[in-house]
Amino acid sequence: MDRIHITGGTPLNGVIPISGAKNAALPLMIASLLTGETLELVNVPRLADIASLSRILGNHGVDHMVVGKRPGQTAETGQTVRLTASNVIDTTAPYELVSTMRASFWVVAPLLARFGEAKVSLPGGCAIGTRPVDLLIMALEKLGAQIEIDGGYVVAKTKNGLRGGEIRFPKVTVGGTHVALMAAALAYGTTVIENAAREPEVVDLAECLIKMGARIEGAGTPRIVVEGVSRLHGARHEVLPDRIETGTYAMAVAMAGGDVTLEDTRADLLHSALDVLATTGTEVTSTESGIRIRRNGAGIAAVDVTTDPFPGFPTDLQAQFMALMTLAKGRSHIRETIFENRFMHVQELARLGAKIRLEGDLAVVEGVERLKGAPVMATDLRASVSLVIAGLAAEGETQINRVYHLDRGFEALEAKLGRCGAEIRRVRA
Ligand code: UD1
Repeated sequence: MDRIHITGGTPLNGVIPISGAKNAALPLMIASLLTGETLELVNVPRLADIASLSRILGNHGVDHMVVGKRPGQTAETGQTVRLTASNVIDTTAPYELVSTMRASFWVVAPLLARFGEAKVSLPGGCAIGTRPVDLLIMALEKLGAQIEIDGGYVVAKTKNGLRGGEIRFPKVTVGGTHVALMAAALAYGTTVIENAAREPEVVDLAECLIKMGARIEGAGTPRIVVEGVSRLHGARHEVLPDRIETGTYAMAVAMAGGDVTLEDTRADLLHSALDVLATTGTEVTSTESGIRIRRNGAGIAAVDVTTDPFPGFPTDLQAQFMALMTLAKGRSHIRETIFENRFMHVQELARLGAKIRLEGDLAVVEGVERLKGAPVMATDLRASVSLVIAGLAAEGETQINRVYHLDRGFEALEAKLGRCGAEIRRVRA
């Protein structure tokens, strides 16, 4: 298995281009199942999760074409992907494929809405808590689906197509909102989604569906209204910038020091995280095409944070922020309210010398003077990148094992950081 070696202590200076958002690209690719015409997606990141989903869609019969290189493009420029679901031959998503990537469970919605049936494996265990799909199933049932669980599979059917209805989520769920949107787009009549997720990725999916002919109002607010249509058509859509990648590199600069411009991204996608970063003493300025992050010499102030659905502080930046707080002056409290068991990075940060105490869903971080490099283990996507950030600021060498987690979600990580002066390299197994 590949490892990443980092020699810490060098400030970061330069420009980092931000990729298209993984968490937007995944539901957008799945939305291609809603039409027999071609959906062209621009700025799709080159990531292991995207490749896994392409395989899953291919298994249903979706044709997948990556547009060749164009002038000015590099290996790190996002790719343009054309997906055509004119020949869906299989409405079953098997365990071997779904278990490689949780979000692929969402194919249940377009398959059911367009073909009246879907058999999709339950996603199974996940490193960051139980992550059930009960609310996704509830949403489909509200639209008239008959659902059974059989042999580890969700078997969903409709007699005469889905019918619009009221879906009231008892808690905010991103996946639940994606599923409800895709199913309601082709349901007969009006669907109202209450307590909908407001994440930018939900808005991106809604905008793409609208280009495909869907009638959706209110995406980005807690109440979304969908007027079902009988068919959708092809479209071209550009994936929005990755706010988690943006926030991750912003925190890396805050921790290692330096002056970096994050390009092709937008501050409005992560205001709460940038506001918190500014409170720690990091300079954050919006530029024409991105965000400039600077910290030179000044110490890091301790700040308390609670994760929340958008527009709150994202759970997907919690581990990275905790890494930053390990070097803060004083004590910070970090509360995780979205996922149970999302503190696996704590033990690994401790190996670098961090002082963190866990009390249920609360991590109490006592800032230390310095971290020291050590071998550590990546446990999930966001946790593993928190170890990279900590390694960049630690003295000496940090080796990160099991980096396949990083490859699921961070495009060209070593190249992007390396160009800003980081001493980081991959050792291939
Ligand atoms: C998405 C993101 C993930 C992010 C998360 C929260 C993708 C591919 N993944 O995951 O990176 O961390 O949003 O911002 O976009 N829940 C239930 N029942 C359900 C569904 C969810 O109880 O049927 C709970 C979950 O256990 C969790 C909370 O709702 O406690 C939020 O989960 P959800 O927003 O659905 O996360 P995902 O869509 O899986």
